Amino acid sequence: MSKPKILLTRRWPAEVHDYLAARYDVTLNERDALPGPEDLRAALRSHDAVCPTVTDRLTADILQAGAGRVKILGNYGVGVSHIDLEACKRLGIVVTNTPDVLTEATAEIALTLMLMTARGAGAGEREIRNRAWAGWGPMRNLGAEVTGRTLGLIGFGRIGQATALKAHRGFGMRVIYFSRRRAEAEVEAQTGASHCASLDELLAAADFVSLHCPGGAPNRHLIDGRRLAQMKKTAFLINTARGEVVDELALAQALRSGAIAGAGLDVYEQEPRVPEELLGLENVVLLPHLGSATLETRTAMGMRVAKNLDSFFSGAAPPDRVA
Ligand code: 8YV
Repeated sequence: MSKPKILLTRRWPAEVHDYLAARYDVTLNERDALPGPEDLRAALRSHDAVCPTVTDRLTADILQAGAGRVKILGNYGVGVSHIDLEACKRLGIVVTNTPDVLTEATAEIALTLMLMTARGAGAGEREIRNRAWAGWGPMRNLGAEVTGRTLGLIGFGRIGQATALKAHRGFGMRVIYFSRRRAEAEVEAQTGASHCASLDELLAAADFVSLHCPGGAPNRHLIDGRRLAQMKKTAFLINTARGEVVDELALAQALRSGAIAGAGLDVYEQEPRVPEELLGLENVVLLPHLGSATLETRTAMGMRVAKNLDSFFSGAAPPDRVA
C-alpha cells in the first residue's frame, strides 16, 4: 500500500521532519517560503493531509477548490481561527490542532508582557539603546508593581489557567476570570481564581486584563473602545490570544489618551503588519507572536500533529479533532 501523501506548509523542527519522512510521503518546505492562496489550493488537491500554520488562511473558497483529495488538516498550533471549520465540516475534511504542548510557553509570554508593560521594561530598554539614559533617579522610570494586583482573565482554558497559576503562586495576584463555562471548583481553588458573572464586572476590577479566548468572528473586536473605557485608567491589557480580539485602532487611541495605562501584545489582526498607530507609543510592548516560540515546544507541537496523523491514517479517531 502506498504511503499517505502529506504536506507541511512551513519549515518545522528537523526531529519532526525526520519522524514524518520515515512514515509518510512528505512534501517539506525547507526554504520556509510563505505559500500563497494558489499554493494552498494546489496542496489540497494533491495531498491526503495538509499541515498548515497560523500564517495560512484556509477560506471556504480555497478549501472548496481542494476538495476531493485532502482528508485531514493537521494544524500546527492550538488556535484554528485561520481555518473555516464550517467549510471543512461541509466538505468532510477532518481538522486537528495541538493543545496542551504549548500551554506553559504561552503562559510565560503572558507573564512576560505583564511584567514588561507594568515595569516599563520596553521603554527602558529603548532608552538605553537610544543612548538616552541619563542614569538612576528616585523619580525616574517608575512603573507599577505586579505583585498582589488583580489579574482578570477573559477565557479560562488551559493557557488561561496556567497563566492564573503562575500569577497567583509566583506574584500573589488575586485572579478573576470570565468565560462561557465556569471551571471546576478544584481548578478555581488551585489557581486561586474566582468567576466573574459579567465582562463588565471583570473589566472594572482588574489591574491587568489578559486575553485567553479563541479568535475568529465571534470574538472579533470583543475589546473595543467601549470596553477599553470600562477598564481602570491604571490598568494594562495583555493579548497572547489572537489579534482580531482587540480593535487595534481603539487600543492605540486609549493608550494615547491615557484611558488605560499600557498594553502588551504578542498577536495582531493582520500579522505581520503592526499598525503604525501603535508603533510610536511608549506604553505598549510589542512582541512578534512568540507564544509558542521555543524549540522544545515547536518540536512537541510537530509531534502532536504527527500523533493525530498517525491515528487518522491507521483508522483510529485523532485525539485532537476540532472539526
Ligand atoms: C503558534 C499560536 O505558534 O498555537 C497557536 O494558536 O498562537 C502559536 O503559538 C501558531 O499558531 C502556529 O500555527
